[in-house]
Amino acid sequence: MLTTVQDFETAARTRLDPVHADFIAGGAGDEITVRANEEAFRRLRLLPRVLRGSAVRELDTTVLGSRTRMPVLLSPTAFHKLVDEEGEVATARAAAATGTIMIVSMASTVAVEDIAEAGRGARESGDPAPWWFQLYIQPDLEFTEVLVRRATDAGCTALVVTVDSPVRGAHGRDLRNGFLDLPAGLRCENMADPRQGGRVRPIAMSPEISWEHLGWLRRTTSLPILIKGALHPEDARLAVRHGADGLLLSNHGGRQLDTVPATVELLPEIAAAVAGRIPIVLDGGVRRGTDVVKALALGASAVGIGRPVMWALAEGGEKGVRRLLELLREELDQALALCGASGVQDLTPALVRAPRTLDGVVS
Ligand code: FNR
Repeated sequence: MLTTVQDFETAARTRLDPVHADFIAGGAGDEITVRANEEAFRRLRLLPRVLRGSAVRELDTTVLGSRTRMPVLLSPTAFHKLVDEEGEVATARAAAATGTIMIVSMASTVAVEDIAEAGRGARESGDPAPWWFQLYIQPDLEFTEVLVRRATDAGCTALVVTVDSPVRGAHGRDLRNGFLDLPAGLRCENMADPRQGGRVRPIAMSPEISWEHLGWLRRTTSLPILIKGALHPEDARLAVRHGADGLLLSNHGGRQLDTVPATVELLPEIAAAVAGRIPIVLDGGVRRGTDVVKALALGASAVGIGRPVMWALAEGGEKGVRRLLELLREELDQALALCGASGVQDLTPALVRAPRTLDGVVS
């Protein structure tokens, strides 16, 4: 029985090649931040209100004009075909069927147009599930513009620019396992360059990336832009000043710079820096409905999940991802009811307590 997100990980491990399981679970350096993300959520305590019941809870929300049936988004993860034959097509169908926003990774193993088509096909009428596109700005800006145009033409409703990767984080597990390339037959389909007869380019990092690149992107597209991976409050303020429409507060699931703080620990500071001017989506370590409540109470408009989607996809393809999303929805609904909240709009920081130390009290 799959009754928790953790169960999906356990089930996925029995099906996955251990090298691929390591690729998903692993992170940079000593994986201190990987662990910190989950631990930080576990340390926070909820202090519920009572006698404020409501028969149903309102879980629907809108982020940057995109409607979602719950404030849990699918964070961008690469290479879905590594764990499922249909890859991103299966994920897109599950996201659309549950009315959840999928952020399509630029490093998808299905072309963005085909992912969009799969989502459209699975959508229940009257229940649109918009999707967003994640971008690593390539040193070749002309090619980056081609990508933006493809995603826009395919119908994406926001762009997510990942800025925490001027170089690739070194993943010890992948190095030890010799997992340095996609297996034969899989490729990053979005990297086909029409100017070179469809040749698939490697994804390049941009060590020289700067705020000027964001300015360039701002001039290139009229879609909302979210910055993914800015962690410093000063960078959050700069993002607003440079015209970002939203922040995806993320440490890449601990896969880039190790020992950065857990995202939920940073959230209050980032929310103060942004001061409500743009919405914040948080990812990293979200595994429970109560984690979603905590993040929303501390100032996020929504959260994202990365690894759980890969585990669910590996466990049961499209159906697996659907079950995962339904499970999180049920957990969130129950947590809201138990907190005395009639919906996601009711959550405030007063609901969350950092544990008080018992030193001196218990001797
Ligand atoms: C990622 N992440 C990621 N981020 C991004 O901007 N582009 C990408 O292509 C990927 N690819 C990717 C692959 C895999 C296997 C993982 C686990 C992660 C990071 C992802 O968007 C997100 O920030 C984290 O996964 C969130 O943390 P959790 O939910 O995995 O704890």
